[in-house]
Amino acid sequence: MYTPDRIGTPLAPNATRVMLLGSGELGKEVTIALQRLGVEVHAVDRYENAPAHQVAHRAYVIDMTSADAVRELASQIQPHFIVPEIEAIATDALATLEEAGTTVIPTARATQLTMNREGIRRLAAEELGLPTSGYEFASTLEEFTASVERIGYPCVVKPVMSSSGKGQSVVRSAEDVQGAWDYAMSGARVDSGRVIIESFVDFDYEITLLTIRSIDPATGKDATWFCEPIGHRQVDGDYVESWQPMAMSATALENARSVAARITGALGGRGVFGVELFVAGDDVYFSEVSPRPHDTGLVTLASQRFSEFELHARAILGLPIDVTLVSPGASAVIYGASEGPVSYEGVASAMAVPEADLRLFGKPVAGAKRRMGVAVATGESTEVARERAAAASAAVSVVE
Ligand SMILES: Nc1ncnc2c1ncn2[C@@H]1O[C@H](COP(=O)(O)OP(=O)(O)O)[C@@H](O)[C@H]1O
Ligand SMILES: [Mg+2]
Repeated sequence: MYTPDRIGTPLAPNATRVMLLGSGELGKEVTIALQRLGVEVHAVDRYENAPAHQVAHRAYVIDMTSADAVRELASQIQPHFIVPEIEAIATDALATLEEAGTTVIPTARATQLTMNREGIRRLAAEELGLPTSGYEFASTLEEFTASVERIGYPCVVKPVMSSSGKGQSVVRSAEDVQGAWDYAMSGARVDSGRVIIESFVDFDYEITLLTIRSIDPATGKDATWFCEPIGHRQVDGDYVESWQPMAMSATALENARSVAARITGALGGRGVFGVELFVAGDDVYFSEVSPRPHDTGLVTLASQRFSEFELHARAILGLPIDVTLVSPGASAVIYGASEGPVSYEGVASAMAVPEADLRLFGKPVAGAKRRMGVAVATGESTEVARERAAAASAAVSVVE
């Protein structure tokens, strides 16, 4: 792991260089945070004018799932740090680059394990013994049918390589089996034909526990920090609303931190992790983890002294971490409508909502289910903050 003892001048030979793989809205905020610290950012995505492209020092369009393309670009940029923003990248290239001395955030192994639900689930449940839903894996319709019968109804089916709820469905009876299989096969990012079948966890609520690994200035050693828990609401596998702090019992919070510490400790390296947990009473179940800032963590742009993006920038560089919550806060997603370049209307009305703010992502093309912006707000309670964020989000319309 490279830990700079100084930061150079961007665009000069001594620059501290970051290669960002994936340039969406989360990468845009990470880029802005790095820019503010004088780090030179090279933003990469598979399409032109992606959000982070628009604020980085340099922008590139490549096929990030091609190991050759990733390696070639890295040898051109010579980054000190490779910072993946998405899962769908050639992680074997990252392993090679790491071996050759480039620091991958948090580690190449973490990106390999988390891009496939099987890798991270087996690590969490079988190696670390963390509580999870019951699960099995299947690669054919026959195996799938047998697994569903063993797991029982209802159960949740997901392609092992997918994100944002794609290809994911709940199987409630034998009649749903064929449809769930076909849907999973159509929604996988990589055509591996493999799915995970999970028992349905009847949780009271779900949280993201942002967990940060960086260097503690008091000891000079790696340490772990936890942000206040973030509550969120998912619709069709995609987050629509989040708030912080999520009220939890002391025991549930302690269990959540213990699970998060163990999984992030096993993945290692430095950076922000979004640990997704289901909570039922005082029981906490590990669901999944992003080895990078989490979409539900957009709320921290309003609620924390340092947002998850600023904390990621600090952790990448091995700098001190401060997880102070400044105010209860909330975020509410703004979705696109039709295709094509869009305009955002109602911005003034949104900002007239007390303590509300917007991030408009500037994606070159919209889509009905595409996240185009987010409203964030603070308030004296999360209830008030949620109302404000929802009102600000509703005030904005994305039009062609
Ligand atoms: N086993 C389960 N039991 C109950 N709800 C689940 C289960 N798995 C997923 N979900 C719901 O679906 C959402 C998305 O699932 P997740 O595994 O996080 O997929 P993704 O990688 O697409 O985010 C979760 O946040 C949760 O609301
Ligand atoms: Mg998830």
